[in-house]
Amino acid sequence: MMNLIDFMMRGFMKKCIIGAAVSGGFIFFILVAMNVLADEQLKGSEIITIPAGSMAPVNLPHHLHQNVLGDCNLCHDIFPQVAGSIIDLKNHKKLKKQQVMNTKCIQCHKANKEAGKHSGPTECMKCHVRS
Ligand code: HEC
Ligand code: HEC
Ligand code: HEC
Repeated sequence: MMNLIDFMMRGFMKKCIIGAAVSGGFIFFILVAMNVLADEQLKGSEIITIPAGSMAPVNLPHHLHQNVLGDCNLCHDIFPQVAGSIIDLKNHKKLKKQQVMNTKCIQCHKANKEAGKHSGPTECMKCHVRS
């Protein structure tokens, strides 16, 4: 009799452990999914269209730059991680016209080109592309 109860208890414990492992795994999965979503939001859009006054707007492959450069502040030290911040700062004269273009985009592309590394465009029409 004791043996039978013992046997049933063990079966029960086993189910509990398996149950806990399965639901634990499920919760873990949800946490990972939430983390990925939060990450995607923090990274901003994959491609960002930057207005450029009378010139054609510029398409920045944002995630490509994040992956290649690693450091967000290579750009975001002069404007925050907020959509529309460049045009806003320019309107309030806190950024000069072409400041982002000259001190960020073109400066880095030129330096990389001169160093023989992977780089981006430095010619006007390669960035200011009319669609
Ligand atoms: C090559 C320059 C560059 C780098 C590097 C960069 N960003 Fe951005 N980011 C931009 C530009 C340009 C904007 C758009 C600003 C505007 O709309 O005026 C922007 C906007 C954003 C936004 C606002 C949402 C959106 O999609 O417009 C977020 C969030 C953001 N960046 C996060 C990041 C994070 C996190 C990193 C580093 C992992 C990073 N950025 C690296 C240039 C860059
Ligand atoms: C690597 C990409 C890139 C290249 C190359 C480039 N630009 Fe730009 N340009 C931008 C970006 C981004 C902006 C918007 C941000 C800013 O004003 O700094 C801009 C803005 C401008 C503006 C508008 C400024 C305003 O607010 O009215 C003019 C004019 C301009 N560029 C002219 C040129 C000319 C001329 C060339 C070639 C000598 C050139 N750009 C090459 C990316 C580029
Ligand atoms: C600190 C360095 C750095 C800054 C700042 C930077 N870039 Fe780049 N950019 C790169 C590098 C490196 C590549 C080459 C990526 C690759 O193909 O591996 C690149 C490539 C590009 C390309 C070509 C992408 C392709 O698919 O071939 C475009 C367009 C571009 N950059 C636009 C911009 C604009 C617009 C800005 C400013 C808002 C900017 N970049 C700022 C380093 C930079």
